[in-house]
Amino acid sequence: MQGLDEVIAAETVLSDVDGLNGRLTIRGRPVEQLARSAGAEEAAHLLLDGFFPDLSDVETLSRSIGDARVEVFDRLAPQLAALAALPPVDALRAGLSFVADGDDLITAHRLLAAPVVLTPAIIRLRRGLAPIGPTADAGQAADMLRMLTGEETSDEARRALDAYLVTVCDHGLNASTFTARIVASTRVGLVSAAVAALSALKGPLHGGAPGPVLDMLEAIGEPDAAEAWLGEALARGERLMGFGHRIYKVRDPRADALKAALRALGRARSGASRLALAEAVEQAALDILRREKPGRSLETNVEFYTAVLLDALGFPADSFTCIFAAGRMPGWIAHSREQELTGRLIRPQSRYVGPAPKQAA
Ligand code: ACO
Repeated sequence: MQGLDEVIAAETVLSDVDGLNGRLTIRGRPVEQLARSAGAEEAAHLLLDGFFPDLSDVETLSRSIGDARVEVFDRLAPQLAALAALPPVDALRAGLSFVADGDDLITAHRLLAAPVVLTPAIIRLRRGLAPIGPTADAGQAADMLRMLTGEETSDEARRALDAYLVTVCDHGLNASTFTARIVASTRVGLVSAAVAALSALKGPLHGGAPGPVLDMLEAIGEPDAAEAWLGEALARGERLMGFGHRIYKVRDPRADALKAALRALGRARSGASRLALAEAVEQAALDILRREKPGRSLETNVEFYTAVLLDALGFPADSFTCIFAAGRMPGWIAHSREQELTGRLIRPQSRYVGPAPKQAA
């Protein structure tokens, strides 16, 4: 019971995580196929479809999210300097709270826009640079990269970020999505659900892992040092970040979707040596985990190549969870709406194991 393993807590039409066979299906589409062929807006449309009566086609959704990027940036511009005093994920959590709560499509547009505009603005301010405003008619991925660097985004970089955002758009009842559904079940609104979900995502056992993955790669430095470094970390009782998963007993299919995106990006950039290091570290980690934790099935999870991909795109390690939130936001919104429309208040029970009441003398 601890950790709610095996408990089915919701029925969903959104995504199916097949942990034994290493498959993730999002509304009937295998994640690898979706990551190769769809952009962030198409993935959002796929997930939101049926949950808002006024949702029309992908192009209209794209334009509305673009308008919402401009609106959110303008509305939050006076707060950006104060937000940037916080670590990026805390700044994003505080920034999301400025969006008015609601259950409608406009609230969804604003939530989809917020991480995409706030994350680059916060990163730039923390680097001592002025934030760059959004462009309403660009796509989410291209605009996010342009707001980060100030330069026009190459097709390869845009495709790589789109592939990332699509790969992580939904994933069954993970901790942050379950959190979103619990909060939404009280009928409080999508913003409250998303802020709570982001708080759950931040933890190092969930969406906070890719920053430590990058620290690990940097500490290892070169392929030949991997085995000794990883062995010492395990001997100290540490967990190897980017490995292991509650549901997947085989390789997380998202790891390969991201590796493919990285390979495509690597051909266009000089990030190839980091990819080679990551592949060597991955192999060494899998060998050691099989040897030291026999019978545990600890395989590569999504966070391992997330770290390498987001680093190659120029995002700093302390912002990785914000980009994850940008990708997962459509899933949080769709699950929250599904919960509101088809579910009941989530209210499980606990078993009392404390002291019995004392009889009055
Ligand atoms: N490195 C070393 N040992 C590990 C790892 C790891 N990455 N993961 C699990 N184990 C070990 C535990 O130490 C434990 O061993 P023990 O029983 O000998 O003490 C055993 O495997 C089971 O661990 P649990 O925590 O019960 O397994 P759970 O299913 O809860 O773990 C989790 C899933 C939290 C992801 C875990 O594998 C982990 O901590 N991984 C590292 C952090 C990480 O990569 N998180 C991102 C996950 S993907 C995502 O959330 C988007």
